[in-house]
Amino acid sequence: MIDHNIELKIEDIAFSKLDLKALFPGRDKVELEMGFCSGLFLSEYANSKPDTGFLGLEISRKFIVRGHRNLQKRLLQDNVRTVCFEGIAIIKELLPFNSLDAIHIYFPDPWPKKKHHKFRTVRFENLIMMHNRLKKGGKIYIATDHPEYGEFIAKEISLTGEFFNILPYGMDDRKIKTKWEKKQIADCWPINYFLLEKK
Ligand SMILES: C[S@@+](CC[C@H](N)C(=O)[O-])C[C@H]1O[C@@H](n2cnc3c(N)ncnc32)[C@H](O)[C@@H]1O
Repeated sequence: MIDHNIELKIEDIAFSKLDLKALFPGRDKVELEMGFCSGLFLSEYANSKPDTGFLGLEISRKFIVRGHRNLQKRLLQDNVRTVCFEGIAIIKELLPFNSLDAIHIYFPDPWPKKKHHKFRTVRFENLIMMHNRLKKGGKIYIATDHPEYGEFIAKEISLTGEFFNILPYGMDDRKIKTKWEKKQIADCWPINYFLLEKK
């Protein structure tokens, strides 16, 4: 159990790029989860990789309070930091180029109306921006249960062939699942999974 505050306050970090070596001393690898919500995946996954630092991003204060409670209770070592802010802005403005080993995006908000597609986290422009923040060989893990967003993501990914290898990836490859994922699997709801590797 971790008994100190793991949240980085936006007002303290907004003025320069994050120093990941200082944030995660002794850990050379860093992964990021967008929209960690309950923190159940983040805590279990971070426990499974004690040598890796994890940055959890969550836009909602209500969810992050719940997420922190779970993280504080479940984390076995001090390898997670969180930020309550819009995740794309954090990746774009505060993360150095070539700094991340992986980005996890599970069940991002689907923004179903066409006029709102520009708010979708997984779209070409954001994938290219994330590509710059990943190390060579770094990965982006994506899952969605929204069929039309799944088709949209597949199309956006198909435009990124110069930048990423598209790897096979499905439910059976995911040993640790998110809270929403477990619920959708229990309800037999179809899920689309995607895995990209930076060339
Ligand atoms: C459908 S929930 C999925 C939660 C969790 N990933 C899971 O699979 O159980 C989407 C989460 O992403 C968060 N979120 C949505 N847009 C975000 C953004 N732009 N930046 C950070 N978090 C975001 C929401 O507040 C919510 O917690």
